[in-house]
Amino acid sequence: MYGAPLSHKSKKIMLLGSGELGKEVIIEAQRLGIETIAVDRYANAPAMQVAHRSHVIDMLDSEQLRAIIEQERPDLIVPEIEAIATSVLVELETEGYRVIPTATASRLTMDREGIRRLAAETLGLRTAKFEFANSLEELHAAVAKIGTPCVIKPIMSSSGKGQSVCRTPEGVEASWNIAMEGGRAKKARVIVEEFIHFESEITLLTVRSISGTTYCEPIGHIQKDGDYIESWQPHTMSEQQIMDAQHMAKTITDALGGLGLYGVELFLTADGVYFSEVSPRPHDTGMVTMATQDLSEFALHARAILGFPITGVRLLTPGASYTLKADREQVEYTISGIEEALSVPNTQVRVFGKPETKVGRRMAVALSSAETVEEARSLAKQAAGKLTLNFD
Ligand SMILES: Nc1ncnc2c1ncn2[C@@H]1O[C@H](COP(=O)(O)OP(=O)(O)OP(=O)(O)O)[C@@H](O)[C@H]1O
Ligand SMILES: [Mg+2]
Repeated sequence: MYGAPLSHKSKKIMLLGSGELGKEVIIEAQRLGIETIAVDRYANAPAMQVAHRSHVIDMLDSEQLRAIIEQERPDLIVPEIEAIATSVLVELETEGYRVIPTATASRLTMDREGIRRLAAETLGLRTAKFEFANSLEELHAAVAKIGTPCVIKPIMSSSGKGQSVCRTPEGVEASWNIAMEGGRAKKARVIVEEFIHFESEITLLTVRSISGTTYCEPIGHIQKDGDYIESWQPHTMSEQQIMDAQHMAKTITDALGGLGLYGVELFLTADGVYFSEVSPRPHDTGMVTMATQDLSEFALHARAILGFPITGVRLLTPGASYTLKADREQVEYTISGIEEALSVPNTQVRVFGKPETKVGRRMAVALSSAETVEEARSLAKQAAGKLTLNFD
């Protein structure tokens, strides 16, 4: 797939991971005249459909990853997912390549251990109590220390894969098996976290640009089986909670450094804010910003990484997003009901164009705005409910 040749003066970015979030980043970068290359492990991924050109490689394979970067010589390497051979990015950075936000940030956030130890042990941020285990036997000991209920997650996984809540000591083995099936690391290793009975959870989008650090209004969200179903902005928080949340976001993003947008995931509880995890890139729950902000999280990321100023972010209206997920695996599918969804007031739809469905895979999202968050949530849910996946 080759697009029109661009001026030799235009900058070139290479996106590693080409999902629905990357697709929007590419569109925003192209609006600023940038040459874009999309890479993923499968053909025709969402961002590849809009990039100037694309490559299919195994991004966890160090040699393949280095070869494609050396072939293309991008000005910026922009990871979109965690599952990348990040040690190669660290090497390439020392050779002069620029990795967004930094190679260390992508290495530390690739697995739950790196980022959790940095946040809790080095930076002293408040997190759920945690332990690690490399075997079922160690897991029994770790659960005994943390207590039940607790959350058990593979060290490397995303979108809730391999994650389970262990409610009793008898449930440890089942959780171990779920983690072994759902994780992507070659090594068997899990994290056990104290279960936090939060009142709500938020993503605080935090942008590091040449203009300094800027925060978006907090995004509230609901996750099911560890994956996001719906999100809204702004989420109501007390002044104290906002101060604490911004302080945590500043601390972790300063430590990770570089330029770009981060999604800082936090739990709000009766006795304070807990740090959960951070994405060094646009966040799925932040898709709502395409309906609420003057600059979406994707526009902010593109501007920040290209070294352009960000003089401020304006929330134009309350809004919400609601996802459409597949319940089976199939290559041939269509999405119907778009006309009905778009008949819902103040509503837009984003169809990702993924070549096939998988159980639990996000295929599209409805975005609505309204006078209040409550109204927007109701509209987005209504619109998503009109979308149907057809498999015949
Ligand atoms: N310690 C915990 N206590 C209570 N709930 C938790 C805890 N850890 C995770 N969860 C719930 O599970 C969700 C997913 O967890 P987490 O963000 O760690 O996993 P993930 O697989 O990286 O998800 P994603 O990639 O979608 O962000 C959280 O958003 C939260 O709703
Ligand atoms: Mg998460």
